Amino acid sequence: MKIKKIGVVGAGQMGTGIAQTAIQFGYQVLLRDNSEELTKKSLSKIEKNLSRLVEKGKMTEEQKKGQLALLQPSPDLRSLAQSDLVIEAISENPKIKIELFRELDKLAPKETILASNTSSISITMLGSVTSRPEQVIGIHFFNPVPVMKLVEVVRSLRTSDATFQTAMGLAESMGKTPVSVKDSPAFVVNRILLPMINEAIYVLQEGITDAKGIDSAMKMGCNHPMGPLELADFVGLDTILAVLEVLYQDMGNAKYHPAPLLRKYVEAGWLGRKSGRGFFDYSEQKQ
Ligand code: CAA
Repeated sequence: MKIKKIGVVGAGQMGTGIAQTAIQFGYQVLLRDNSEELTKKSLSKIEKNLSRLVEKGKMTEEQKKGQLALLQPSPDLRSLAQSDLVIEAISENPKIKIELFRELDKLAPKETILASNTSSISITMLGSVTSRPEQVIGIHFFNPVPVMKLVEVVRSLRTSDATFQTAMGLAESMGKTPVSVKDSPAFVVNRILLPMINEAIYVLQEGITDAKGIDSAMKMGCNHPMGPLELADFVGLDTILAVLEVLYQDMGNAKYHPAPLLRKYVEAGWLGRKSGRGFFDYSEQKQ
């Protein structure tokens, strides 16, 4: 299936990054979030990011204008659902995602593919609440989306070959390297990454060293571009907790038990960069 128009639901950091990347590669994009304020912020962030590319000489002002013309906020879910492919990038909450998939299934033409950018939730389960499980797939991008090369393409037990091929082709056409992964809790990257971040939080909780010490150790000792705690703040501590909860519940293994300190941070509203405070303080930084 040839994709021309993509609907992006959710204007947080992932939805924003997906929308930006899609227009940069020539797709028409309809973007929608329940929060109008967040949608506005997202559009202005995309505009700023593209302007920065113009300043760096990586594209012309003309190209920027052309790309921005491909991006529209969607007035409602019904209009957005008229896209060839809808990608959901809302918060990592199975109940809300199920509701959205039911709604999209009612509103979208029968050919439309419904994709999720979930980091951990079962694609088979999301497909099963629709009348089109063969056209439901995981297309999981990484943060920051315009920069990170990987896309995990997650086939549910019922995803068709045609949907899978379309998703792989879409990721490649957006300059990404798609990797086919089975539908399993947290897929590949987060299955490996999240236990490391969780362990870093346990190390912090046990007072073995402080947050800066943990991150310096992993950056200098393992050549990681960001330390695990800075990366957790970057992803969002609510998302980190949600993914660990899926891993713990679905795998039934104590090694995935979220560190109590992580839960406390989320309860405190210290969600990382987006809230101005996480393991580090971002109150002085521009978001
Ligand atoms: N949007 C667009 N471009 C961005 C960006 C953003 N948010 N952040 C950085 N960039 C661009 C910069 O403009 C710069 O581009 P040029 O080279 O063309 O000038 C380039 O990326 C490098 O940026 P910086 O020089 O500012 O900084 P850096 O070298 O420290 O790199 C980083 C920044 C790419 C974010 C790097 O720190 C990094 O790779 N961090 C780890 C990211 C990571 O692990 N992501 C996965 C998270 S897990 C996840 O997403 C899965 C999930 O489901 C939870």
